[in-house]
Amino acid sequence: MLVITGAGISAESGIPTFRGPGGHWRNLDPAKLATENAFRADPKLVWDWYRERRQMIRAAQPNAAHVALVRIAVQSRDFLLVTQNVDDLHRRAEWVGQRIPAGKMVQIHGDIFVTRCSHCDFRRRENEPEGPATLVPPCPSCGGPLRPGVVWFGETLPPREVQRVEDFLSHGACDLTLVIGTTALFGYIVQWALDAKGRLGRLIEINPEESPVSAFATETVREPAAVALPKLVARLPRWFTM
Ligand code: APR
Repeated sequence: MLVITGAGISAESGIPTFRGPGGHWRNLDPAKLATENAFRADPKLVWDWYRERRQMIRAAQPNAAHVALVRIAVQSRDFLLVTQNVDDLHRRAEWVGQRIPAGKMVQIHGDIFVTRCSHCDFRRRENEPEGPATLVPPCPSCGGPLRPGVVWFGETLPPREVQRVEDFLSHGACDLTLVIGTTALFGYIVQWALDAKGRLGRLIEINPEESPVSAFATETVREPAAVALPKLVARLPRWFTM
């Protein structure tokens, strides 16, 4: 089973999607902030945006969709979650005391709680609540500008994470593929969904709106993820015993 998620799964936790209402920050388009050029031009502005988003995510809680996915993950024989989300709500979600193991989750666009150096290999986690910043933090190791450990527009995906997805898919098509809350604007997202579906598999899209994946879906659920996923989980045991 392969599950692909995007910003829509965290919408009901109060985290605005990028391209939906509330996606703009100080009237700025995320597509223009999340780039290396924006960081070079105004690193403090970009840092402020990420700091505020980290604070918002810290205050947010996983919703019923995140929890339903934990249940699917722990009950599936072979499972991988590929999330484009840099938040930690998949990681924090619990179902009967269980969480999705790190080995079954790929954050393909990075992790907003990781800070890394633009120049050297330095990395750290941002665990503490953060106040407003006055400066762009320098790297404690080389003095270079620190940056968020996320993948910006125009950057390559982390090769090790891509490999994990490819390895999973190399075992063959999936019985079930879920694509949840993503505009699926990136070709690799659509391609992974199609590879997972294979010739005979099921592909269910959960999204109130259409996406490029919709045309390939065997079923589309036009409901918010927190409504649709708990209902879907209730249907799964029947499928897995077929
Ligand atoms: N439940 C399910 N889907 C929802 C919900 C909801 N409650 N609310 C909105 N959606 C859907 C929207 O219809 C849209 O298709 O979630 C999607 C959100 O789209 P985007 O904001 O484009 O987010 P995403 O697809 O994750 O963006 C991909 O682009 O900005 C970059 O790197 C960033 O990871 C991000 C990537």
